[in-house]
Amino acid sequence: MDTLTNGTKISIQGVTKIFSGKRDEVIALKELSMDVQDGEFIVIVGASGCGKTTLINLVAGFEAPTHGQIILDGQPVTGITPECGMIFQQYALFPWKTVQQNVEFGMKMKRMPQKERQERAARFIDIVGLKGFERSYPHHLSGGMKQRVSIARSLANDPKVLLLDEPFAALDAMTRQVLQEQLVRIYEKHRKTIIFITHSIDEALLLSSRIVVMTARPGRIAQEIVNDLPHPRNADVQLSNRYMELKRTIWDSVQAEVMKSMEVETH
Ligand SMILES: Nc1ncnc2c1ncn2[C@@H]1O[C@H](COP(=O)(O)OP(=O)(O)OP(=O)(O)O)[C@@H](O)[C@H]1O
Ligand SMILES: [Mg+2]
Repeated sequence: MDTLTNGTKISIQGVTKIFSGKRDEVIALKELSMDVQDGEFIVIVGASGCGKTTLINLVAGFEAPTHGQIILDGQPVTGITPECGMIFQQYALFPWKTVQQNVEFGMKMKRMPQKERQERAARFIDIVGLKGFERSYPHHLSGGMKQRVSIARSLANDPKVLLLDEPFAALDAMTRQVLQEQLVRIYEKHRKTIIFITHSIDEALLLSSRIVVMTARPGRIAQEIVNDLPHPRNADVQLSNRYMELKRTIWDSVQAEVMKSMEVETH
């Protein structure tokens, strides 16, 4: 087993996912293979419907592959993986629980002693800048604040892997930027292994250590780009020639796949 975990956190091995309906079937992913190293920040981009959400649902164990397998820390994923923290586009908070109770939820499930989980929740609420809102309910918070609660809840649970599915897509540009910067800081400090899905190439370049472009459905890997932009990644980085060069490469790759997916749909 040790040979498998040699720096590799997640190994996606020849994964095919077919959804069978009453009349037809959809091949969402086809023989997709990819390794994610411990502490990598992978950003996945690709046309709508190419199978990005399906892929991270498989990693989290919400769905099972039709063929192939996913190995997490040397063990095959066979069911819902508590080691994975998942953050969705919509905030998925319990509306009847306060911020504090929402953040404590996973730790409570793990039977962490009350004092410890209260302190831990308070610490992560502070990290995401929500100190003072512990007793608020989700409906009193803005979208950006709710998303920060989701992030605090996942981090407080100390997942081995963080899976984020377009977490900032519904937010305004300013809030998005603040949360992106917060996530970068958290990543630099805690070095979690992260898989993050986005439609924004700028977001991908700001956050990732590696960018994976998926093909049009059925999803496979079209291209992988190591993001060698220097840290800290701020506005200056976005003006560099290397930034423009990488942006062009990714744009061309995504664009080609989007065109293919449209051809499939119009024929
Ligand atoms: N539970 C399901 N049952 C049937 N088909 C599904 C199911 N989940 C996804 N699909 C299909 O699988 C394909 C991939 O879907 P998926 O949600 O993974 O795409 P995506 O890349 O996340 O798209 P988007 O960028 O729009 O979020 C789509 O054709 C979708 O209709
Ligand atoms: Mg999706």
